[in-house]
Amino acid sequence: MPAVCSPPCKPANGQLSTVNCQLPVVRHALSARLSVIAKMIGDTPLRVADIGCDHGLLACHLAAAGHTVTAVDISAASLEKCRILAEKTGLAFVPPGGGPGARRAPLSFHLGNGLKTLDTPLDCAVIAGLGAGTIAGILRSARPHYAGLRFILCPASRPEQLRTRLRCLGFGITNEELVLEDRRYYPVIEAVGCQPPTGGQPASTADCQLTTVSSPADWLGPCLFATRHPLLPGLARTLKPKIEKSAPSLFAENPTALCELLKLLDEVSAW
Ligand SMILES: C[S@@+](CC[C@H](N)C(=O)[O-])C[C@H]1O[C@@H](n2cnc3c(N)ncnc32)[C@H](O)[C@@H]1O
Repeated sequence: MPAVCSPPCKPANGQLSTVNCQLPVVRHALSARLSVIAKMIGDTPLRVADIGCDHGLLACHLAAAGHTVTAVDISAASLEKCRILAEKTGLAFVPPGGGPGARRAPLSFHLGNGLKTLDTPLDCAVIAGLGAGTIAGILRSARPHYAGLRFILCPASRPEQLRTRLRCLGFGITNEELVLEDRRYYPVIEAVGCQPPTGGQPASTADCQLTTVSSPADWLGPCLFATRHPLLPGLARTLKPKIEKSAPSLFAENPTALCELLKLLDEVSAW
C-alpha cells in the first residue's frame, strides 16, 4: 500500500488549490535493487537522469525525495509508463499559468538514446536494468558536456564485462554495492569518468569488445572484494558452476585466467 508523504492541500474555500500548495505525493515501494540505487544517490538534492526509466518507479521515488529528475527512455511506450506513474503521484504537475506559488515539476521526460540527445545539466545519471553492452555504448556515446559525471550503474547481465569496459572507457569505479533480489545478485556500481567522453568514437581498439576476457577481480568487483562485502561469498558460490559450464567458450584463449578465477572464487566462498 503506497504511503502518502505530504498531505493534500485544503484551502479555506474547500476547492483544491493549485497554487501555493503542495500536491499529495505518493511514494511507491521500491524493490531491494532500486532501494540500493536510491540510497547510493543519497539525500542531498541533485539533478539526476534515470536512463531507461521504463516503469518510472525509481524516477518518481527520486523526484518525491527532492531530486530534480529527468526520466529518459529510448521507447515512447516505456516513457509513457513513467509519465502515467508521475501523473498518478502528482509529480508531473505544474500549476497552470505559473504564478508566485508555482513550483517547477521535479520530473521531466526525454525520449532518446542514452545521453546522446540530452542537454540538461546533471550531477548524476542512473543506468539500471540494461545489459553491459548497452550501458557501455551509452557511456561511450555520452556528449562531452557530461565529462566527469557520476554514474550509478546496475547491469542486468555480464557485470564483469561492464567493469572491464569501464576501465577501457576511462572510468574509475568509486563505490560498489551488491544486492540479492529474487535469488539473483545485482551489483550497483558507482563510476566516474576520468577522461573526456569520446562522443561516440572508440576510445581504443580494445574498447567495447564483449569478447575481452575479464580479469578475476572484475568478476567479483574490486570494491566489493576490498570491503569484503557480506554477500560476496554467496555470489562466488553461485558463479563457480556457471563459469565452469561456460569455460570452454569464455576462456578458450586464456586458461590461466580461468585457473586464477576459480582459485579466487574458492577463496571468497570460504570467507
Ligand atoms: C528492463 S527496463 C529497466 C527499467 C529500470 N531502469 C529498472 O532497472 O528497473 C529497460 C529500459 O531501458 C530502455 N532502454 C534500452 N536501451 C536504451 C537506451 N539506449 N537509451 C535509453 N533507454 C533505453 C528500454 O526501453 C526499457 O524501458
